Amino acid sequence: MDHDNSTDDSNVSASGRPDSSIRVEIFEDHVWAGEVARRLVAHLNDQPTSRICLPTGETPRPLYTAAAPLLDVSSATVFLLDEFGLPPGSPARCDSMLQRDLLGSLEEPPHMYHRLDANASDPADECGRFDSLVADGGLNLTLLGLGGNGHLGLNEPGTTVDSATRVAELAQSTANAVRGYDPDADPVDGMTLGLERILASDEIWLVVTGSHKAPILERTINGPISSALPASFLRDHPNAVVYADRSAATLL
Ligand code: PGA
Repeated sequence: MDHDNSTDDSNVSASGRPDSSIRVEIFEDHVWAGEVARRLVAHLNDQPTSRICLPTGETPRPLYTAAAPLLDVSSATVFLLDEFGLPPGSPARCDSMLQRDLLGSLEEPPHMYHRLDANASDPADECGRFDSLVADGGLNLTLLGLGGNGHLGLNEPGTTVDSATRVAELAQSTANAVRGYDPDADPVDGMTLGLERILASDEIWLVVTGSHKAPILERTINGPISSALPASFLRDHPNAVVYADRSAATLL
């Protein structure tokens, strides 16, 4: 892939593919969670030792709730996509959310579960450790939410397509979203799996719900492929799919 990394919209991907396409599956709002959950359960049934990367946030919550009773990740390797720079135990931390929304409801937790320690004494070393764990075997499946600003994980607008796993500054809108989970939180940064590793995943599912996501989903699908909207890079991935509910897909 050959992308211009400028955030200027005039700098469309040098591959010249502003019309690159990605498969989009749209479900009625009330069946979305069950349909995507069914696919996740089927993936793990087919590949019990799959190496999967999971996001947190509002979007995956109903999907995790629907999947939990049937999901067997006991032999899988689970990676948590990102983590905010918040004290341990903050309800806004991604590890707290994944525990609350999925892992705590499973009959058997994953024996292999890896996450970024945002409180590590040597953040660069911690990012390198996590990155190596991901790289050593790669990812079979990565689920991603779509940020209101087009981010993937904490790969905010302006992130280059080859970005490493690293400490990343939060966009203001992301920091605001974090405060919605923990009013006492004052997040400025976090750690995230970089776009390079995300885009190397065999398969990627972008999960998008709600009418508030309709404009950014429309730009993700139809706008320029550019660092200005990191999710647009998924259109150059050979095996990425968008699972959207009807409300998020109204502008497509
Ligand atoms: P949300 O967040 O699922 O809470 O909307 C998505 C994201 O920011 O990646």
